[in-house]
Amino acid sequence: MAQTHFGFETVDEDQKAHRVRGVFDSVAARYDLMNDLLSGGLHRAWKAYAVAVAGVQPGMQVLDIAGGTGDLARAFARQVGRHGRVVLTDINEAMLRVGRDRLLDEGLVLPTVVCDAERLPFADGAGGAGGGAAATGFDLVSVAFGLRNMTHKEAALREMARVLRPGGRLLVLEFSQPAAALRKPYDWYSFKVMPLLGRWVAGDADSYRYLAESIRMHPDAAALKTMMKSAGFGHVDVHRLAGGIVALHVGIRC
Ligand SMILES: C[S@@+](CC[C@H](N)C(=O)[O-])C[C@H]1O[C@@H](n2cnc3c(N)ncnc32)[C@H](O)[C@@H]1O
Repeated sequence: MAQTHFGFETVDEDQKAHRVRGVFDSVAARYDLMNDLLSGGLHRAWKAYAVAVAGVQPGMQVLDIAGGTGDLARAFARQVGRHGRVVLTDINEAMLRVGRDRLLDEGLVLPTVVCDAERLPFADGAGGAGGGAAATGFDLVSVAFGLRNMTHKEAALREMARVLRPGGRLLVLEFSQPAAALRKPYDWYSFKVMPLLGRWVAGDADSYRYLAESIRMHPDAAALKTMMKSAGFGHVDVHRLAGGIVALHVGIRC
């Protein structure tokens, strides 16, 4: 059995999705509160930046992968208008349920699908077997803070390319490698403060220790750019945010 990382642990590949599920089952109810607390509200600015770069227009077809509680999907839904569509997806039902309820409270009814990013239940964007035209593809696919949790990142990126129409764009918003001057304070914050806050507020230190570790095991911005190019994105731009703590990769599907 091939092995992979779950944070700093080495686990059998078939264990990782199960362990990741445990993390998000545990944090779902407090996810939004913890996001605000741990990032000092900065995650809102990073997401707003991604939404601005996305430049979604009325009528567009948008797929939000690993969408969790729906921050990006909500922003895109307001932009696509009544002739467009935003599909909110995630592998974790607990996260999606919180997201769907929150969207409903705001009067937004979005198609919501439980699915694994490594096996997306959507047609080929270029018109795959059985006909279909390029019009079946998504104009934009987004994945925010989700890719690092996936077992086979290359497979997930290939799936994201597959469901986009040619010329469509993928936005990957993810933690990355901070500038050298930030590393020590960032490590102290991640490994000392985050698990403590996780224990006090969400009653779960381990999940927040995993989140810090998973960030360290994620490919750096240059490596992710190479992975995206291999997965079918002809051009990839990288936007480093907050001193490199977060990176937004924007890929154009060949
Ligand atoms: C840190 S949350 C991000 C949620 C949301 N996108 C945001 O930015 O707030 C990561 C999400 O990735 C989802 N996830 C992990 N592995 C996945 C997979 N293989 N396919 C789809 N979603 C996955 C988790 O269930 C979780 O909801």
